[in-house]
Amino acid sequence: MKPLDILVVFDMAAPPPDDHDYTEYFKHPDWFTESAVVETLRLNGHKVRTMGVFNCVKPLVAEIEARPPDIVFNLVELFLNKAHLDKNIPALLELLNIPYTGCGPLGMALCNNKAMTKKILSYHRIKVPEFQVFRPGRRVWLPKKLTFPMIVKPLREEASTGISQGSYVATQDQFHERIRFIHDKFRMPALAERYIEGRELYVGILGHRRLRAFPVREMVFRNVPEDQPRIATYKAKWDKAYREKWGIDSVFANDLPNGTSRKIVHVCKRAYRALNIDSYARFDCRLAPNGDLYVLEGNANPELAMADEFAEAAERGGLAYNDLLHQIIRLGLTRG
Ligand SMILES: Nc1ncnc2c1ncn2[C@@H]1O[C@H](COP(=O)(O)OP(=O)(O)O)[C@@H](O)[C@H]1O
Ligand SMILES: [Mg+2]
Repeated sequence: MKPLDILVVFDMAAPPPDDHDYTEYFKHPDWFTESAVVETLRLNGHKVRTMGVFNCVKPLVAEIEARPPDIVFNLVELFLNKAHLDKNIPALLELLNIPYTGCGPLGMALCNNKAMTKKILSYHRIKVPEFQVFRPGRRVWLPKKLTFPMIVKPLREEASTGISQGSYVATQDQFHERIRFIHDKFRMPALAERYIEGRELYVGILGHRRLRAFPVREMVFRNVPEDQPRIATYKAKWDKAYREKWGIDSVFANDLPNGTSRKIVHVCKRAYRALNIDSYARFDCRLAPNGDLYVLEGNANPELAMADEFAEAAERGGLAYNDLLHQIIRLGLTRG
């Protein structure tokens, strides 16, 4: 790929430095993704500018208007501390008529709302857990279509925010209590779903028209007793000591029954298209003991850290990290 002028944008939890020099920030583990992307692109000969976005898009618009890059590498996941506002960054870039990496606003919006995702997937006859949305301030009742146990989670969050062992509810009392908790803590609707027993699988997909799927990953729970829920809680994903204690590990899915991997990839590719994703995504699925595959959610623009699910799967699938970034850039340049 010929050297490009790339503007890498990411979210910040505080105002960015005036000179947009992030060298010191990038030394901190919280910035693994941003620093890996920037460093890799620079090593590949691209001219890379960096820009943190904090609660205001004016500096971003000004930078793009003053010095339009060949492409914006979009790593923004939060705006005003809200995960569901990230869809407005690609929307803004479209209005500025500047190429960008990652998913467009529609796919982001559909993935971000877990109820909307399930409505669309069920139209395409892709299995999803039965669900019901409960809005704050409205009456909470137990619909007939839902049976215990269930998972109760925030309607629009990411990265297992608001997901703990307490999200698994087995009684009416726990159900009401957890819904109240989501309303109070997150100030957003709560989503209650049937709990799907089974293996926890992740599928990374890259592409626009021609899709490429990477080897299936799995979260295993080696020391979690059989009668306990096995869910990717916040701690199960991010707390090292907790992962060690319960034997929680992220691996490539082994010994899937014959043909299952192909079937899973086929379902996830259909889900990817149905949700209008046009660059890269990771699907979170559950494989029930009877072989039924349920899609739990789609993650448009999943975490791109080198050691995270998506990049690891890409690498096993034959795309080293810098090739992955180049493919993502190529998709951004040829969109539409
Ligand atoms: N209906 C369900 N049945 C079984 N497990 C679930 C269900 N919904 C969520 N989980 C568990 O909770 C985790 C996080 O839920 P998910 O919907 O993927 O939210 P997030 O956006 O936070 O990743 C899943 O990876 C899975 O382990
Ligand atoms: Mg998930």
